[in-house]
Amino acid sequence: MAAADQPILDVRDLRTYFFREEGTVKAVDGASFEVFAGRTVGIVGESGCGKTVTAKSILRIVERPGRVVGGQIYLRRAAHNGQASTVDLATLDPDGAEIRRIRGGDIALVFQEPMSSISPVHTIGNQMVETVQLHTGLGASAAREQAIEMLRLVGIPKPERRIDEYAFQLSGGLRQRAMIALALGGHPRILIADEPTTALDVTTQAQILDLLRHLQAQEQMAIVLITHNLGVVAEMCDEVVVMYLGRVVERGPVDAIFHAPKHPYTRMLLRSIPSIHAQVRTKLPTIAGSIPHPFNRPRGCPFHPRCPDFMPGVCDQNEPELRAVSESQAVSCFLYGAP
Ligand SMILES: Nc1ncnc2c1ncn2[C@@H]1O[C@H](COP(=O)(O)OP(=O)(O)O)[C@@H](O)[C@H]1O
Ligand SMILES: [Mg+2]
Repeated sequence: MAAADQPILDVRDLRTYFFREEGTVKAVDGASFEVFAGRTVGIVGESGCGKTVTAKSILRIVERPGRVVGGQIYLRRAAHNGQASTVDLATLDPDGAEIRRIRGGDIALVFQEPMSSISPVHTIGNQMVETVQLHTGLGASAAREQAIEMLRLVGIPKPERRIDEYAFQLSGGLRQRAMIALALGGHPRILIADEPTTALDVTTQAQILDLLRHLQAQEQMAIVLITHNLGVVAEMCDEVVVMYLGRVVERGPVDAIFHAPKHPYTRMLLRSIPSIHAQVRTKLPTIAGSIPHPFNRPRGCPFHPRCPDFMPGVCDQNEPELRAVSESQAVSCFLYGAP
């Protein structure tokens, strides 16, 4: 297989649990997906389905009492001699030197809330220069030049002045851009963006998404875009991963997911988006039922209590595997194959 056909990130059967006194929360319970250079994969699903914990697991920043308890997270790294090597991030010491080099260097993370990743007590510039230096080995003044360039690239006006400001001095939109600049400072090969535009107005949101697309084309960066906005997915993503209660219930190319969704949960999600062509404001259908608490995961398929196609004796007895329904689409549902 040619290198371009191989994923740079290959997540297999990832399991991340929180061990609490009240019980074990299986936040991610068997998630598998692949990420390719220069492409964007969207992770979608209702709130609480494990999207953020998946992102944190990849970077090994899951907080206690959470732990990655199973699965593999293969990262392909380009070595200096041109030979690629693969490292399983799930096996690394979360406080060790290797994962610290990977964070920000190979894989960068952009969060919904910029204040959680930008230090309030250092200027934007100090933080960026540090990141650029850590991952490029440039001297202080060259790193500062690069940081200013990066701020300009993300659309921050007068970057040579803004670089010496603190995060609180910037507006929400500029702060989000500064966080993206900070994340991109190490020239990551993979950018994980967790609801990067949710807190922003639509105009700024569109500008930030344009910016990500532009940078991706320039640097062949892979993007993992976590969002509950299916409009954003349609516009940005090549592949889609649909999560429900810590599992991937369907995945495939964006066209297949939107035009030939297989899993009843994917269909429900799609019905919940307002049609952009709708002339009259109609009431949006809400998704029936609520998500069960992860302490009491239902037996069998986790979606069966809410599923319109529930088959008694089948879906409540067995847990469906994620199975291929075409060359590129996979679904975990007994409608597409008996247990
Ligand atoms: N620190 C924690 N302790 C216990 N449970 C947690 C913790 N963090 C997240 N969870 C649980 O893990 C599940 C997945 O959460 P999350 O990944 O944040 O969902 P999403 O990002 O899809 O909205 C949720 O049920 C959430 O309550
Ligand atoms: Mg989240």
